[in-house]
Amino acid sequence: AHSALIDRFGRKIDYLRLSVTDRCDLRCSYCLPKGFKGFEEPADWLTFDEISRVVAAFGRLGLRRVRLTGGEPLLRRNLPELAKRLAALPGIDDLSLSTNATQLDRQADALKAAGIRRINVSLDSLDPRCVQSITGNDSLDRIMAGLAAGKAAGFDPIKLNMVVMPGINDGEIQRMVQFALDHGFVLRLIEPMPVGDTGRQAGRIDLSQIGQQLARTFGLTPLVAELGGGPARYLADASGQAVVGLITPLSQHFCASCNRLRMTVDGTLHLCLGQEASLPLRPLLREGISDIGLEAAIRQAIELKPERHEFRESPHKVVRFMSQTGG
Ligand code: GTP
Ligand code: 5AD
Ligand code: SF4
Repeated sequence: AHSALIDRFGRKIDYLRLSVTDRCDLRCSYCLPKGFKGFEEPADWLTFDEISRVVAAFGRLGLRRVRLTGGEPLLRRNLPELAKRLAALPGIDDLSLSTNATQLDRQADALKAAGIRRINVSLDSLDPRCVQSITGNDSLDRIMAGLAAGKAAGFDPIKLNMVVMPGINDGEIQRMVQFALDHGFVLRLIEPMPVGDTGRQAGRIDLSQIGQQLARTFGLTPLVAELGGGPARYLADASGQAVVGLITPLSQHFCASCNRLRMTVDGTLHLCLGQEASLPLRPLLREGISDIGLEAAIRQAIELKPERHEFRESPHKVVRFMSQTGG
C-alpha cells in the first residue's frame, strides 16, 4: 500500500543516520570546538518509544538501513535496548553503528547481541600524541581496547574512519593501510568537510589522487561488490581481503546517488549534511500525531531534500557542528 521514498531528484531514500545523543567524550578538531559544552537538553531528546515510532514509520516507507551515530552513541544510556528494538522493526535489515570506540570494550558484546552487525570506528592516527592533539584526549589506548573488543565480539566488517588532514596525519596513510590490513579492518580515507566552524582548520586534500597512488603501491583495483550503503568507493587486492575506501565529498562528490537523511537527538530530520534544510518531528510526536500523519510528515521532509552540498562554493555554510548530525 505504501510507495517508496523518492525525492525530487529521483533518489530513493532507504538509509537513516540516527543520532542518539549530541554529547561526546572527545573534541575532534574537525567536529567540535575545544571545550565545547553547548549540548541539547535531555528533555528535548526523543525517548526510545519516540525513536522506535519514527523508525517504524520509515520502515513502512521502504527504509532498510539505520546507522546509530552521535555525538558518541555509546554515551546514550541503554543503547543496546534501543538497538534491539530497532533491529526487530519490519524492513530494517541493516543496523550499524559509528563510534569513537572509547567505551566499546564494555559494550561490544551487548551491542552485537542486540542486532548490530557492523561498526565504523573513528581512528585518525596511530601516534598517541597525534591522537591526543586531534581528539583533545589521550584516547588511543581506549580506542585500541575498543577495537579489540569489537573484533572479539564478531562485528564484520569493522571499518576505520580516518579524516585525512594535510600536515597533521597525511604522512600516516601507508602505516594506517598496513595496520588495517594486518588486523582485517577496512580503512576509509575521508576528506574533511567544512561543517560548523570549530576554530581549527582541517585543511583541504584531494584523496582521489592519493587513492590512485595507493592502488599502485598495494596493487588494488576498484571493488564492485557492495560494502555498506554509504558514499565510500572501495579498492581491493586480488584476494578481496585488503580493502581501502575513499570518501571524497570535495574532490568527487557523490550527491547524485545520495540515499540518506539524518535525524538529530531532538527529533529533527536533516535532509542533507551540507545544507540547513530540516523538518522537526518532535512537536508532531508530542502533539499525538497519527501514524498516517507521521508518514505524511516524512514524505513532506523528503520533498525538501537539496540536490547537493556546497562545501566548495560556501564552506561553513552549515553552522551546526558535525556532532549534532553524527557526520
Ligand atoms: P556505511 O557505508 O553504511 O558503512 O556507512 P558510512 O560510511 O556512510 O558511515 P560513517 O558514519 O562511517 O561515515 C563515514 C564518513 O562519510 C563520515 O565522514 C560521514 O560524515 C561521511 N558521510 C556519510 N554519509 C554522507 C553523506 O550523505 N554525505 C556526505 N557529504 N558525507 C557523508
Ligand atoms: N569531515 C569529515 N568527516 C568527519 N567526521 C566527523 N567530522 C567530520 C568532518 N568535518 C567523521 C568521523 C566519524 C564519522 C561519523 O564522521 O570520521 O568517524
Ligand atoms: Fe547527500 Fe547531502 Fe551528503 Fe550530498 S552532501 S551525499 S546530498 S547528504
